[in-house]
Amino acid sequence: MKGVVLAGGTGSRLYPLTKITNKHLLPVYDKPMIYYPIMTLVEAGIRDILIVTGGKNAGDFLRLLGNGSEFGLKHLNYTYQEGEGGIADALRLAEHFADGDKICVILGDNIIEGSIRQAVEDFKRQPRGAKVLLKEVDDAHRFGVAELEGDRIVRIVEKPKNPKSRYAVTGIYMYDSTVFEKIARLVPSERGELEITDVNNAYIQEGTMTYAFLEGWWTDAGTFDSLLRAANLVAEKRRAERAAQQQAQFAKG
Ligand code: DAU
Repeated sequence: MKGVVLAGGTGSRLYPLTKITNKHLLPVYDKPMIYYPIMTLVEAGIRDILIVTGGKNAGDFLRLLGNGSEFGLKHLNYTYQEGEGGIADALRLAEHFADGDKICVILGDNIIEGSIRQAVEDFKRQPRGAKVLLKEVDDAHRFGVAELEGDRIVRIVEKPKNPKSRYAVTGIYMYDSTVFEKIARLVPSERGELEITDVNNAYIQEGTMTYAFLEGWWTDAGTFDSLLRAANLVAEKRRAERAAQQQAQFAKG
């Protein structure tokens, strides 16, 4: 399976932090934001990765990431989104790269504590369709919200005023190659964007959408509060990792 990191858009909600740089290059504790989604894909065994970027600082991604050697990669692919036509508009640019393979898509501002390896393995075995990862949250109105019936998602509503559930659709999506036909049929939403939620609802209507719950914490980092939360969660994780290392060394004598 191939991987796609979507890092276009202008990051207007983080202005003036994003006045002279791209949102995904901002620090989250000890690393630039874009490192986290790349590490999530690599940890899941995905080696062939496309970065979709945009805005005025696209060249900085190349300077920062190069060919991905810091992540143990031999090569990274890049493409450029003109304007900010939405998440599905950015994904459209991955068609040539995907070349008929399944893809795992992750939003450039999504940071997780755990692993998506199991979900990726499960989707490799899924004959067709899509898979989304859900997380129970207190502020579902900020996200795409999944309505479940039994073991099926019956609908996803984008940023509902009165969410019908607490299950946020995280920015980690797995698709078969029909995703690009589905994007081609989309019409822009009221906010003028091609919505990833409309893509997901097309799979739901077709009866080929599956889901899993994401283990560990999950956060986006696209607002001042979530950026701060992300930094604090990563800092806490690093402290726990260091403590575990020290304990292991101590046990060895
Ligand atoms: O974080 C999960 C949520 O992400 C989902 O629950 C929502 O269903 C989904 O619509 C999205 O909501 P946001 O409003 O948080 O998306 P945002 O516009 O902040 O974009 C998130 C990332 O997507 C951004 O960091 C880069 C990428 N993106 C976004 C746009 C609008 C692009 O690559 N190009 C774009 O034009």
